Amino acid sequence: MPHRRTARLASWQIWLLTLSGSGLWLSGSAWLLLHYYGQTEGEFGPQMNPLEPDMLTVHGFMLIPALLGIGGMFVAHIPHGWTHRHQRVAGVLLSVILAVLIASGYLLYYLGDEDWRAWASLGHWALGLLLPLAFVWHYINGQKARRRSTRRPPNGQSGRQAV
Ligand code: HEM
Ligand code: HEM
Repeated sequence: MPHRRTARLASWQIWLLTLSGSGLWLSGSAWLLLHYYGQTEGEFGPQMNPLEPDMLTVHGFMLIPALLGIGGMFVAHIPHGWTHRHQRVAGVLLSVILAVLIASGYLLYYLGDEDWRAWASLGHWALGLLLPLAFVWHYINGQKARRRSTRRPPNGQSGRQAV
């Protein structure tokens, strides 16, 4: 069950975010490898690898669970998490990266100008490659803080904070 009174996430939420995020990262990275190193030789010179569109199909599919998972963060996680100062920087950084990925992903569909589209693409995948680092930093920071707050103080009472 999701924790509605604290910033803690249910394990299914963590799995949803981890698996869909990994799917996005792997399909995006596979597209990059195919696009820059996997061109095939055609009748009229180098050609796009035929697997490129398949990678974007997987990418688009993974967006569905990812956006559901991210949307769930607004219900309790971010409002309750905001009171934990130690997590604010990592939380805001992760949220900003996700917001830019969502906005640049949208632009990739609708930007007509080739130059602008190339910049949106570069910004999108450069930030996308860094996403796991921001996620893991935020996760580990949260785990460490939880361990600190559950460590028993010398008077024997639990130090766990309700947030
Ligand atoms: C919440 C996170 C993300 C969102 C909302 C998102 C969204 C999108 C969208 C809408 C597209 C356009 C698909 C198309 O043209 O058919 C796209 C393309 C792409 N994404 Fe993502 N994405 C995310 C995360 C990532 C990550 C983590 C990577 C890691 C490498 C990545 C790499 C790429 C690449 C390489 C492309 C193709 C760029 C191009 O067509 O020039 N994305 N993404
Ligand atoms: C301003 C934004 C955010 C703040 C202030 C924040 C705050 C927190 C806090 C306080 C914790 C520790 C919870 C605990 O140990 O009880 C935490 C853990 C975590 N956060 Fe965030 N967070 C933010 C955004 C996000 C976003 C956008 C995601 C994912 C897309 C996310 C994913 C996680 C995960 C997976 C954990 C570890 C799970 C857990 O300890 O229950 N957070 N965050």
